[in-house]
Amino acid sequence: MSDALQFKTTESPSATRAAPSHRRVAVLGGVYSNYLALEEAIKDARRRNVEAIYCLGDLGAFGPHPDRVFPILIDNDVQVVRGNYDDSIGRGLPDCQCGYTDPRDNHFAAVSYRYTYQQTNERWRPWLAGLPTELRMKIGESRVLLCHGSPRKTNEFLWESTTSTQFLERLCRDHDADVILATHTGIKWRRDLDDDRLFVNVGVLGRPENDGRTNVWYAILEAPSHRTTNEYKHLATESAKRQSATSFANNANDVPQPTERGSHEVLKHGTDKYAVSQPAKGIHVEFVPVSYDHERLAAEMRSEGLPSEFADTILSGHWTTCLEILPGKERRRGRF
Ligand SMILES: [Fe+2]
Repeated sequence: MSDALQFKTTESPSATRAAPSHRRVAVLGGVYSNYLALEEAIKDARRRNVEAIYCLGDLGAFGPHPDRVFPILIDNDVQVVRGNYDDSIGRGLPDCQCGYTDPRDNHFAAVSYRYTYQQTNERWRPWLAGLPTELRMKIGESRVLLCHGSPRKTNEFLWESTTSTQFLERLCRDHDADVILATHTGIKWRRDLDDDRLFVNVGVLGRPENDGRTNVWYAILEAPSHRTTNEYKHLATESAKRQSATSFANNANDVPQPTERGSHEVLKHGTDKYAVSQPAKGIHVEFVPVSYDHERLAAEMRSEGLPSEFADTILSGHWTTCLEILPGKERRRGRF
């Protein structure tokens, strides 16, 4: 095991700056060199009138042409957290610090890292190494901490099925946050915590979610508002229209409704239960599907000599590599 696996989010350069305050932001997870999805996500977020766009790191890996991602982020003023991949590429480390333990996972991680390292121009390494390991902002009155894996460790995997609510609440307390936003695992999820606190894994743009769909995901977070029931239905209906275009089932009856107890509501599309949710007092979270030219990405991956397994994932929506790290529940959603 590389001692790099102990890499922790101990730096907090943002702590000395005043945290910006927003009402509506977009938060992007791992990009994995998927510059095509990144462009689409940013365009989509702009259309939805977000005030700021954040990215939680892992800009390279998996996909082709890693240098194409950086100008897109900079030109669009995206605030970026340093992921394990960015730290490794930036500091010239021998591996990606991805946190895998299985030999097959590590084999493909090594292939991916070697390609990404060789294809990243030297000029970007200081920029990557200088990215902050966490950022802070406010959404409404909530204090939001943005990190890559967890606030305590950049390459920590926080899976929905294996992460306790008590642990997440402790992270919030220990790190003075009402909301923690992370990525790293590749699969989105959220959990409401006590005292209106919240944990959100925003998903990733780099590859699909191991569910047989080719789209990828990002998240929009919005400060609490006092929407009327009709406004709320309209929001859900618009989201349903967008998601039906991503080729999965749409049940028109499954639109969210406010409830007396005020718990978050769910918009169901086939097996997806995360599309829109609205806590009564907390931050509104919307997971947004992103369609992009995945066939072009797969073709470029092949022309760059990346493993055919990577392109297969892009085309099928099923993970073919880095599977051994998945807990049983998350793995059963996939084909392999
Ligand atoms: Fe990561």
